[in-house]
Amino acid sequence: MPPSESSPATVAPITRPGTRHAPRIQPGPPEARRHYPATARNRDPIRAVLTRVLPEGGGVLLELASGSGEHAAALGPALPAGWTWRPSDGDEPSARAAATLLAEAAPARVEAPVLLDVSDRPWPANAVEGVAAMAAINLVHIAPWAVTGALMAEAGAALPVDGVLYLYGPYRVGGRHTADSNAAFDASLRRQDPAWGVRDLEAVVDEAARHGLILVETVAMPANNLSVILRKAGV
Ligand SMILES: C[S@@+](CC[C@H](N)C(=O)[O-])C[C@H]1O[C@@H](n2cnc3c(N)ncnc32)[C@H](O)[C@@H]1O
Repeated sequence: MPPSESSPATVAPITRPGTRHAPRIQPGPPEARRHYPATARNRDPIRAVLTRVLPEGGGVLLELASGSGEHAAALGPALPAGWTWRPSDGDEPSARAAATLLAEAAPARVEAPVLLDVSDRPWPANAVEGVAAMAAINLVHIAPWAVTGALMAEAGAALPVDGVLYLYGPYRVGGRHTADSNAAFDASLRRQDPAWGVRDLEAVVDEAARHGLILVETVAMPANNLSVILRKAGV
């Protein structure tokens, strides 16, 4: 039986080898670009929350599952002084799409994308170098539950105390979908891949807590999505 979010995602302790290196992806031809229309609708609300919850002091914000790179292009320049946006994706064509967009748009404070599969642990040291925050927008429900476990384990290991993990997407709350449209979306995700699906917020928060990441806030977002803000606890 596949693991479900009612059980902890079992993850091994981390030992970060110095030898693995996450490659920076080079831009492709213009047709390598992708366009996700939802980004135009959610980028401003995400910007407002994300810039408010970033820890003081600056650092690198590692974006997991950047997809088209449109969030990096729109949000990177809005980061406060001292911050840099590092896009990444586990899928090379997606990372190339982001690299192509970002090479053309040349937004301030945005690095070239890194090829990084969240579930391929431990993450290479160069992917997490200088990281003080992470963001995963529309990943948790469009990936197997084990990816959330890997995300929490790596974020818990790599973030400094007070570092922030920002999640955006739809969640069930109290065992229920928050809207009929989310229930329909969940069913369509599970038809595409039985390992995908809208997760229970409480299961995600429990998984995070197992790795020292504490829920500080949820914020209702457009189209029945949530911002989920987790912070690395002190020792
Ligand atoms: C729905 S897209 C979201 C893209 C973007 N964050 C957005 O909201 O427009 C999901 C992305 O997750 C990436 N992804 C899925 N599983 C992944 C994994 N294990 N590691 C890294 N990226 C992954 C896919 O390649 C895809 O780009």
